[in-house]
Amino acid sequence: MHKIKVWDGFIRSFHWLLVIAIATLYFSAEEGMMELHFVAGFFTLALLLTRLIWGVIGSKTAKLTALIHSPRAVLKSLQHGDAKLGHGAAGSYMVIAFFILLLVQLLSGLMTTDDILTDGPLVQYASSQVVEWAGWLHHKNFDLLFYAIILHVVAIVIYRLKGKKLVKAMVTGYKEKQSLAQTNQVTKAPWLAFVIFSIILIVLMLSWGRDSLSYLFS
Ligand code: HEM
Ligand code: HEM
Repeated sequence: MHKIKVWDGFIRSFHWLLVIAIATLYFSAEEGMMELHFVAGFFTLALLLTRLIWGVIGSKTAKLTALIHSPRAVLKSLQHGDAKLGHGAAGSYMVIAFFILLLVQLLSGLMTTDDILTDGPLVQYASSQVVEWAGWLHHKNFDLLFYAIILHVVAIVIYRLKGKKLVKAMVTGYKEKQSLAQTNQVTKAPWLAFVIFSIILIVLMLSWGRDSLSYLFS
């Protein structure tokens, strides 16, 4: 067996920080802790925007173009598995679905109000009809996101039962392959992604997050 690095440090950080952020967003919404919800929301927005940029300039296995597969390739991958190093064909559709669901959740959140004290930062620019619709979307889309997460975790468990240790790879970055057919480097150093993430996060926090941050830290 040969160890091949498939997930760079940013992809792995993105994934596990995203899991923590979504748990925080759900918990804070349930508890009515809107300041925490906002800060976690801006954090998630910075994560996702960086991931999409990294999908253009990042590692081979991070590329958005690597997510595009024909329906035939999906069927084949479900029947016979994937030979490729990054996301498989079926998994790629899941990843695309996540990116869309997360974007919808984040953008609708920016225009959502709790009708008491807290308005998303774009509420002031939107008509009351749009704000009402965004709030509806923010609720409904979360249900879809929730089902997608369940499906995602079930799929990972099924792959594990079939002997594929995908979680280990998402933690360590390495996959074990029998052949060394694809040995050329597929990952890039992640530092640029972390720089981009830090810049986006600082801009978002300074422009939209000040009140929530000062409430949380006072
Ligand atoms: C809030 C819950 C979760 C969300 C939103 C989520 C989302 C995602 C996304 C977007 C990717 C693609 C990564 C990328 O290319 O950037 C991914 C991959 C992955 N996730 Fe999750 N995930 C969640 C929970 C979990 C959990 C709990 C596990 C562990 C059981 C897990 C295991 C994995 C693995 C192993 C991959 C890589 C799959 C592959 O090899 O193609 N995820 N997830
Ligand atoms: C992926 C990111 C996000 C997730 C998963 C998320 C999730 C949720 C959930 C589950 C609720 C409760 C909905 C319900 O009661 O049915 C909620 C409410 C809310 N969210 Fe988010 N949210 C996200 C991002 C944001 C962002 C970025 C903002 C604005 C900065 C925001 C603003 C709000 C507001 C104002 C409410 C209260 C709505 C009400 O009281 O009716 N959310 N969010």
